[in-house]
Amino acid sequence: MYRSHNCGELRATHSNETVTLAGWVQGIRDKGFMVYVDLRDRYGLTQLYFDEEQTPKEILEKAQKLGREFVIQVTGKVQERASKNPNIPTGDIEVLVSELKVLNNSKTPPFTIEDSTDGGDDLRMKYRYLDIRRNPVKNSLIFRHKVAQETRNYLSSEGFIEVETPYLIKSTPEGARDFVVPSRMNEGQFYALPQSPQTFKQLLMVGGMDKYFQIVKCFRDEDLRADRQPEFTQIDCEMAFVEQEDILNTFEGLTRHLLKEINGVDVDKFPRILYDDAMRLYGNDKPDIRFGMQFGELNEVAQHKDFNVFNSAELVVGIAVPGGNSYTRKDIDKLIDWVKRPQVGALGMVYCRCNDDGTFKSSVDKFYDQDDLAKWAEVTGAKAGDLICVLSGNTDKVRAQLSALRMELAERLGLRKPDEFAPLWVMDFPLLEWDEDTERYHAMHHPFTSPKPGQLELLDSKPGEVKANAYDLVLNGNEIGGGSIRIHDKATQAIMLKHLGFSEEEARAQFGFLMDAFEYGAPPHGGIAFGLDRLVAILGGQETIRDFIAFPKNNSGRDVMIDAPAPIDKEQLEELNLKLSL
Ligand code: AMO
Repeated sequence: MYRSHNCGELRATHSNETVTLAGWVQGIRDKGFMVYVDLRDRYGLTQLYFDEEQTPKEILEKAQKLGREFVIQVTGKVQERASKNPNIPTGDIEVLVSELKVLNNSKTPPFTIEDSTDGGDDLRMKYRYLDIRRNPVKNSLIFRHKVAQETRNYLSSEGFIEVETPYLIKSTPEGARDFVVPSRMNEGQFYALPQSPQTFKQLLMVGGMDKYFQIVKCFRDEDLRADRQPEFTQIDCEMAFVEQEDILNTFEGLTRHLLKEINGVDVDKFPRILYDDAMRLYGNDKPDIRFGMQFGELNEVAQHKDFNVFNSAELVVGIAVPGGNSYTRKDIDKLIDWVKRPQVGALGMVYCRCNDDGTFKSSVDKFYDQDDLAKWAEVTGAKAGDLICVLSGNTDKVRAQLSALRMELAERLGLRKPDEFAPLWVMDFPLLEWDEDTERYHAMHHPFTSPKPGQLELLDSKPGEVKANAYDLVLNGNEIGGGSIRIHDKATQAIMLKHLGFSEEEARAQFGFLMDAFEYGAPPHGGIAFGLDRLVAILGGQETIRDFIAFPKNNSGRDVMIDAPAPIDKEQLEELNLKLSL
């Protein structure tokens, strides 16, 4: 038996019991005649005590030679401490050690394994197994486990069945690039790793599984950001014989269950917003609604004066920054520089101070009088003491720019409170999205999403205006889930693929299996997938998903611990019939 108790469970009530503990040496205080060792495991810290009078000499000497992160096993008697530590649950006791066994030595770790460490990001990633010993990382992984467990509980109780789908598949387009795997047995052919189990879950519906879920790895070769990893995990779900409303209710139920069980938060019915309104009011399809600062479109009140910048713009739009009139000229100049950074890309920013006495002072006073500016305030909802920030230009661009400014200002103003949860359904996404690079339409969600009833006819005449039965679940300004009601008949699927630029042969080659399945009694169906990493991070009050993944990749998609990706042997390449021309 390695241990009778763990390092987090002993209390004063255990006094005089003989116990055996095992763990890592977190720290040693050697006062010569007495030695204190902090012993750590997943469950906590326990103080070990050795002294000249009570500890056998060879054991005291052994204790004095221990180093940080040595793995040891000790047996001893629990006793109350002379000076108690109220900061840890085991702070009332210590173990007076009578036996000590070193189970393994350790090199000095490259960074301190404590809550706040001296290790930089790269070092901690290289030695991730040491980082995992630290409370913040360990607790994030435990937190993730709880979210996954509660998800399984909830969905199982609702009659969902977890089914595994294959990882070696044929490419399914979800908008990103595939990771591919060469096949040794099929020369010149490749599997793709799934970007999601989308087609398989639809086939499970054809197979009559009725309610499916899977906590599943997905793989996407795309540029990385704080909320993106090349391999990430979805809570992937699908239901048959459902309408959009059924799906929204079911997964609102799941989200509400998680908020309650994990965060102890009760949330009312989730608000819903149409995609078009989200873009108009927040310039963004994943608005953070924990705070206001909605956009006010100013074309009507700001154009047709002599200010050409606004007159020539497709959209003039502003937000009211609460209390922003307290900004100095210098603060505002910095804000203007911020929106002009290439990452944001605005050409400039017009502003208007809303003074406490009800007057206005704008950067374009030459063109606008007090009455004009009062209208700006009305449209943006600005009050005395606020600052109105106005951008103008191409509608899509200017919305994205003002949205970036809105989020930045909210962050600075402390309005993005991590312990406040504001879920939101964004509904009726466009079915198609114009891609500048390839100069054609792409499925905004994926090619299996159904258009809104009666809109199929519009595909030919106004493809950009066709709306989809597609919805996203947004939590605190992050897209944590997305899904749709699917096409379930071959003819409609064929029309969709044609509009996405697939020839009949290409459609057959890529999606023949799905179209065939649709001919054998495919039920109406729909579903959703949550990004588990994102969901966990946000419930945990953060937005960087890396901290909630045991072994994440860095920003270049590398695992710096195992040093992957890496070249492979010539023999391996030959076996796979691959030639590298470098
Ligand atoms: P979608 O592509 O919207 O939908 O993905 C679902 C959710 O997965 C998360 N996500 C990611 N998380 C981390 N890193 C990434 N690279 C990443 N990409 C996506 C997001 C997103 O909302 N098959 C459809 C679902 C469906 O229609 O049912 C799909 O995959 O939180």
